[in-house]
Amino acid sequence: MKTLTTISELRAEIAQHRLQGQSIGLVPTMGYLHSGHASLIERAAAECDLVITTVFVNPLQFAATEDLSSYPRDAPGDSRTAAAAGADLLFLPGLQEMYPLGREGVLTSVSVNELSAVMEGESRPTHFAGMCTVVAKLFNIAGPCTAYFGKKDFQQLAIVQAMVRDLSFDVELVGCEICREPDGLAMSSRNVYLSTEQRAAAPVLAQALVAAARSLSRGETSVDRLRATMMDVISTQAIGQVEYLEVVDPITLRPLTQADARSRFFGAVRFGSVRLIDNLDLSELDLDSNAAISQ
Ligand code: PAF
Repeated sequence: MKTLTTISELRAEIAQHRLQGQSIGLVPTMGYLHSGHASLIERAAAECDLVITTVFVNPLQFAATEDLSSYPRDAPGDSRTAAAAGADLLFLPGLQEMYPLGREGVLTSVSVNELSAVMEGESRPTHFAGMCTVVAKLFNIAGPCTAYFGKKDFQQLAIVQAMVRDLSFDVELVGCEICREPDGLAMSSRNVYLSTEQRAAAPVLAQALVAAARSLSRGETSVDRLRATMMDVISTQAIGQVEYLEVVDPITLRPLTQADARSRFFGAVRFGSVRLIDNLDLSELDLDSNAAISQ
Protein backbone atom coordinates (compact mmCIF):
# COMPACT_ATOMS: atom_id res chain seq x y z
CA MET A 1 0.00 0.00 0.00
CA LYS A 2 1.29 3.45 -0.96
CA THR A 3 0.69 6.45 1.28
CA LEU A 4 0.15 9.78 -0.50
CA THR A 5 -0.25 13.19 1.06
CA THR A 6 -0.89 15.51 -1.89
CA ILE A 7 -3.86 15.87 -4.22
CA SER A 8 -1.60 16.04 -7.28
CA GLU A 9 0.17 12.75 -6.38
CA LEU A 10 -3.17 11.05 -5.78
CA ARG A 11 -4.63 12.30 -9.07
CA ALA A 12 -1.52 11.18 -11.00
CA GLU A 13 -1.62 7.73 -9.40
CA ILE A 14 -5.34 7.27 -10.10
CA ALA A 15 -4.89 8.44 -13.71
CA GLN A 16 -2.32 5.68 -14.34
CA HIS A 17 -4.71 3.00 -13.09
CA ARG A 18 -7.64 4.47 -15.00
CA LEU A 19 -5.59 4.37 -18.20
CA GLN A 20 -5.29 0.61 -17.68
CA GLY A 21 -9.08 0.42 -17.46
CA GLN A 22 -9.12 -0.26 -13.72
CA SER A 23 -12.15 0.49 -11.55
CA ILE A 24 -11.64 2.81 -8.56
CA GLY A 25 -13.07 2.20 -5.08
CA LEU A 26 -13.05 5.08 -2.60
CA VAL A 27 -13.47 4.72 1.17
CA PRO A 28 -13.57 8.19 2.79
CA THR A 29 -12.88 8.17 6.55
CA MET A 30 -11.75 10.41 9.38
CA GLY A 31 -9.31 7.75 10.56
CA TYR A 32 -8.91 5.91 13.85
CA LEU A 33 -9.95 2.95 11.75
CA HIS A 34 -11.79 0.06 13.40
CA SER A 35 -13.29 -3.17 12.11
CA GLY A 36 -16.28 -1.25 10.72
CA HIS A 37 -13.99 0.78 8.45
CA ALA A 38 -12.00 -2.36 7.63
CA SER A 39 -15.21 -4.02 6.41
CA LEU A 40 -15.82 -1.09 4.00
CA ILE A 41 -12.27 -1.39 2.65
CA GLU A 42 -12.61 -5.17 2.32
CA ARG A 43 -15.83 -4.76 0.36
CA ALA A 44 -14.22 -2.16 -1.90
CA ALA A 45 -11.24 -4.50 -2.42
CA ALA A 46 -13.59 -7.33 -3.39
CA GLU A 47 -15.42 -5.14 -5.92
CA CYS A 48 -12.83 -2.69 -7.33
CA ASP A 49 -9.36 -2.90 -8.92
CA LEU A 50 -7.84 0.04 -7.06
CA VAL A 51 -8.92 0.87 -3.50
CA ILE A 52 -8.21 4.28 -1.99
CA THR A 53 -8.79 4.93 1.70
CA THR A 54 -8.76 8.57 2.68
CA VAL A 55 -8.05 9.72 6.23
CA PHE A 56 -8.78 13.35 6.96
CA VAL A 57 -10.34 14.78 10.11
CA ASN A 58 -12.39 17.43 8.38
CA PRO A 59 -12.67 20.59 10.49
CA LEU A 60 -15.59 21.90 8.41
CA GLN A 61 -17.93 19.30 9.90
CA PHE A 62 -17.13 20.14 13.54
CA ALA A 63 -18.80 23.06 15.31
CA ALA A 64 -16.62 25.22 17.59
CA THR A 65 -18.04 23.41 20.63
CA GLU A 66 -17.38 19.92 19.27
CA ASP A 67 -14.51 17.47 19.70
CA LEU A 68 -12.22 18.38 16.75
CA SER A 69 -9.03 18.81 18.80
CA SER A 70 -9.63 15.67 20.82
CA TYR A 71 -10.94 13.56 17.92
CA PRO A 72 -8.89 10.34 18.13
CA ARG A 73 -6.03 10.04 15.66
CA ASP A 74 -3.66 7.14 14.95
CA ALA A 75 -1.93 7.41 11.57
CA PRO A 76 0.36 4.34 12.03
CA GLY A 77 -2.61 2.21 13.19
CA ASP A 78 -4.73 3.48 10.27
CA SER A 79 -1.97 2.55 7.86
CA ARG A 80 -1.79 -1.01 9.25
CA THR A 81 -5.59 -1.46 9.25
CA ALA A 82 -6.07 -0.06 5.74
CA ALA A 83 -3.26 -2.22 4.31
CA ALA A 84 -4.52 -5.38 6.04
CA ALA A 85 -8.05 -4.76 4.74
CA GLY A 86 -6.81 -4.48 1.14
CA ALA A 87 -6.36 -0.74 0.41
CA ASP A 88 -3.89 0.02 -2.38
CA LEU A 89 -3.55 3.74 -1.62
CA LEU A 90 -3.86 5.62 1.65
CA PHE A 91 -4.53 9.33 1.13
CA LEU A 92 -3.46 11.21 4.24
CA PRO A 93 -3.55 14.93 3.43
CA GLY A 94 -2.79 17.67 5.94
CA LEU A 95 -5.08 20.61 6.60
CA GLN A 96 -2.97 22.88 4.37
CA GLU A 97 -3.26 20.45 1.45
CA MET A 98 -7.05 20.20 1.67
CA TYR A 99 -7.74 23.82 2.58
CA PRO A 100 -4.75 25.94 1.48
CA LEU A 101 -6.26 29.12 2.96
CA GLY A 102 -7.22 27.37 6.19
CA ARG A 103 -10.66 26.49 7.46
CA GLU A 104 -11.80 30.11 7.40
CA GLY A 105 -10.59 30.45 3.80
CA VAL A 106 -13.06 27.86 2.48
CA LEU A 107 -15.74 29.99 0.79
CA THR A 108 -17.67 27.18 -0.89
CA SER A 109 -20.19 25.04 0.89
CA VAL A 110 -22.30 22.19 -0.44
CA SER A 111 -25.51 21.82 1.48
CA VAL A 112 -28.37 19.40 1.01
CA ASN A 113 -31.54 20.99 2.34
CA GLU A 114 -34.28 19.27 4.34
CA LEU A 115 -32.39 16.00 4.88
CA SER A 116 -29.71 17.93 6.78
CA ALA A 117 -32.13 19.70 9.10
CA VAL A 118 -33.57 16.69 10.94
CA MET A 119 -32.16 14.37 13.62
CA GLU A 120 -28.36 14.96 13.65
CA GLY A 121 -28.92 18.29 11.93
CA GLU A 122 -31.06 19.60 14.78
CA SER A 123 -28.22 19.61 17.26
CA ARG A 124 -25.43 19.93 14.65
CA PRO A 125 -26.80 22.53 12.17
CA THR A 126 -23.51 23.02 10.27
CA HIS A 127 -22.30 19.44 10.33
CA PHE A 128 -23.72 18.07 7.09
CA ALA A 129 -22.72 21.04 4.94
CA GLY A 130 -19.14 20.58 6.19
CA MET A 131 -19.34 16.84 5.53
CA CYS A 132 -20.81 17.28 2.02
CA THR A 133 -18.21 19.90 1.12
CA VAL A 134 -15.31 17.57 1.90
CA VAL A 135 -17.01 14.54 0.30
CA ALA A 136 -17.67 16.59 -2.87
CA LYS A 137 -13.99 17.59 -2.84
CA LEU A 138 -12.85 13.97 -2.44
CA PHE A 139 -15.18 12.85 -5.26
CA ASN A 140 -13.79 15.62 -7.42
CA ILE A 141 -10.21 14.52 -6.67
CA ALA A 142 -10.89 10.78 -7.19
CA GLY A 143 -13.05 11.16 -10.31
CA PRO A 144 -15.51 8.45 -11.40
CA CYS A 145 -15.52 5.77 -8.73
CA THR A 146 -17.55 3.58 -6.43
CA ALA A 147 -17.64 5.07 -2.92
CA TYR A 148 -18.33 3.06 0.21
CA PHE A 149 -20.15 4.48 3.24
CA GLY A 150 -21.36 2.76 6.40
CA LYS A 151 -25.06 2.71 7.31
CA LYS A 152 -24.06 3.57 10.89
CA ASP A 153 -24.21 7.16 9.61
CA PHE A 154 -27.37 6.47 7.65
CA GLN A 155 -28.41 10.12 7.52
CA GLN A 156 -24.98 10.98 6.09
CA LEU A 157 -25.41 8.28 3.44
CA ALA A 158 -28.90 9.57 2.51
CA ILE A 159 -27.52 13.11 2.20
CA VAL A 160 -24.55 12.03 0.07
CA GLN A 161 -26.98 10.08 -2.14
CA ALA A 162 -29.03 13.25 -2.65
CA MET A 163 -25.89 15.28 -3.38
CA VAL A 164 -24.68 12.73 -5.98
CA ARG A 165 -28.10 12.73 -7.65
CA ASP A 166 -28.61 16.51 -7.57
CA LEU A 167 -25.10 17.44 -8.74
CA SER A 168 -24.59 14.48 -11.15
CA PHE A 169 -21.39 13.19 -9.61
CA ASP A 170 -20.10 10.21 -11.59
CA VAL A 171 -19.99 8.15 -8.40
CA GLU A 172 -21.77 4.96 -7.51
CA LEU A 173 -22.57 4.79 -3.80
CA VAL A 174 -22.57 1.59 -1.79
CA GLY A 175 -24.14 1.58 1.69
CA CYS A 176 -22.57 -1.09 3.91
CA GLU A 177 -24.16 -2.79 6.91
CA ILE A 178 -23.35 -1.59 10.43
CA CYS A 179 -20.60 -3.53 12.23
CA ARG A 180 -21.45 -4.22 15.86
CA GLU A 181 -19.57 -5.32 18.96
CA PRO A 182 -20.65 -8.72 20.35
CA ASP A 183 -23.09 -6.95 22.73
CA GLY A 184 -24.74 -5.02 19.87
CA LEU A 185 -23.03 -1.63 20.30
CA ALA A 186 -22.47 -0.10 16.86
CA MET A 187 -18.74 0.33 16.18
CA SER A 188 -17.63 3.95 16.23
CA SER A 189 -14.33 5.80 16.66
CA ARG A 190 -16.01 7.66 19.52
CA ASN A 191 -16.53 4.46 21.56
CA VAL A 192 -12.96 4.84 22.90
CA TYR A 193 -14.13 7.86 24.93
CA LEU A 194 -16.60 5.76 26.96
CA SER A 195 -15.72 5.05 30.60
CA THR A 196 -16.13 1.47 31.81
CA GLU A 197 -19.53 2.32 33.28
CA GLN A 198 -20.68 4.15 30.12
CA ARG A 199 -19.40 1.33 27.89
CA ALA A 200 -21.43 -1.18 29.93
CA ALA A 201 -24.58 0.95 29.51
CA ALA A 202 -24.08 1.93 25.84
CA PRO A 203 -25.61 -1.20 24.19
CA VAL A 204 -28.96 0.01 25.53
CA LEU A 205 -29.29 2.21 22.43
CA ALA A 206 -29.16 -0.76 20.03
CA GLN A 207 -31.40 -2.71 22.39
CA ALA A 208 -34.02 0.06 22.31
CA LEU A 209 -34.03 0.16 18.50
CA VAL A 210 -34.26 -3.63 18.34
CA ALA A 211 -37.16 -3.68 20.82
CA ALA A 212 -39.11 -1.17 18.73
CA ALA A 213 -38.34 -2.98 15.46
CA ARG A 214 -39.47 -6.26 17.03
CA SER A 215 -42.66 -4.58 18.18
CA LEU A 216 -43.25 -3.31 14.62
CA SER A 217 -42.61 -6.81 13.25
CA ARG A 218 -45.33 -8.07 15.61
CA GLY A 219 -47.80 -5.54 14.20
CA GLU A 220 -47.44 -2.36 16.29
CA THR A 221 -47.41 0.57 13.84
CA SER A 222 -48.12 3.55 16.14
CA VAL A 223 -44.92 5.60 16.27
CA ASP A 224 -45.94 7.05 19.65
CA ARG A 225 -46.08 3.55 21.09
CA LEU A 226 -42.89 2.45 19.30
CA ARG A 227 -41.09 5.50 20.71
CA ALA A 228 -42.43 4.71 24.18
CA THR A 229 -40.97 1.20 23.83
CA MET A 230 -37.58 2.70 22.98
CA MET A 231 -37.78 5.13 25.92
CA ASP A 232 -38.64 2.29 28.31
CA VAL A 233 -35.54 0.37 27.28
CA ILE A 234 -33.23 3.41 27.47
CA SER A 235 -34.54 4.30 30.91
CA THR A 236 -33.14 1.02 32.26
CA GLN A 237 -29.74 2.77 32.09
CA ALA A 238 -30.00 6.01 34.04
CA ILE A 239 -26.72 7.40 32.65
CA GLY A 240 -28.08 7.43 29.09
CA GLN A 241 -29.59 10.83 28.17
CA VAL A 242 -31.81 10.62 25.10
CA GLU A 243 -31.32 13.29 22.44
CA TYR A 244 -33.76 11.82 19.95
CA LEU A 245 -35.52 8.59 19.11
CA GLU A 246 -37.21 8.67 15.71
CA VAL A 247 -39.04 6.43 13.27
CA VAL A 248 -38.61 7.84 9.77
CA ASP A 249 -39.01 7.21 6.07
CA PRO A 250 -35.60 5.86 4.88
CA ILE A 251 -35.45 8.12 1.78
CA THR A 252 -36.97 11.43 2.89
CA LEU A 253 -35.96 10.97 6.57
CA ARG A 254 -39.33 12.53 7.44
CA PRO A 255 -40.73 11.46 10.81
CA LEU A 256 -43.70 9.14 10.60
CA THR A 257 -46.78 8.77 12.74
CA GLN A 258 -47.49 5.26 11.43
CA ALA A 259 -44.59 2.89 10.76
CA ASP A 260 -44.42 0.28 8.02
CA ALA A 261 -41.96 -2.41 6.92
CA ARG A 262 -39.65 0.17 5.25
CA SER A 263 -39.44 2.43 8.29
CA ARG A 264 -36.09 3.04 9.94
CA PHE A 265 -35.46 3.55 13.66
CA PHE A 266 -32.88 6.14 14.73
CA GLY A 267 -31.51 7.19 18.09
CA ALA A 268 -28.93 9.52 19.61
CA VAL A 269 -28.08 9.08 23.28
CA ARG A 270 -25.46 10.84 25.40
CA PHE A 271 -23.39 8.93 27.90
CA GLY A 272 -21.67 11.75 29.79
CA SER A 273 -19.94 13.82 27.10
CA VAL A 274 -19.99 10.95 24.57
CA ARG A 275 -22.81 11.14 22.06
CA LEU A 276 -23.65 7.87 20.34
CA ILE A 277 -25.92 7.34 17.35
CA ASP A 278 -27.40 4.19 15.87
CA ASN A 279 -30.16 3.09 13.50
CA LEU A 280 -31.72 -0.03 12.08
CA ASP A 281 -34.63 -1.39 10.11
CA LEU A 282 -36.51 -4.67 10.13
CA SER A 283 -33.94 -6.40 7.91
CA GLU A 284 -31.39 -6.22 10.74
CA LEU A 285 -33.62 -8.37 12.91
CA ASP A 286 -32.82 -11.31 10.66
CA LEU A 287 -31.43 -13.73 13.26
CA ASP A 288 -28.93 -15.42 10.96
CA SER A 289 -27.38 -12.26 9.58
CA ASN A 290 -26.80 -10.34 12.80
CA ALA A 291 -26.04 -12.32 15.91
CA ALA A 292 -25.05 -9.15 17.81
CA ILE A 293 -28.55 -7.74 17.98
CA SER A 294 -30.49 -10.96 17.92
CA GLN A 295 -29.86 -11.77 21.58
O1 PAF B 1 -18.13 9.44 8.07
C1 PAF B 1 -17.04 10.05 8.12
O2 PAF B 1 -16.04 9.53 8.61
C2 PAF B 1 -16.95 11.47 7.58
O3 PAF B 1 -18.14 12.16 7.80
C3 PAF B 1 -16.54 11.53 6.11
C4 PAF B 1 -17.58 10.91 5.21
C5 PAF B 1 -15.20 10.82 5.90
C6 PAF B 1 -16.36 12.99 5.67
O4 PAF B 1 -15.41 13.63 6.45
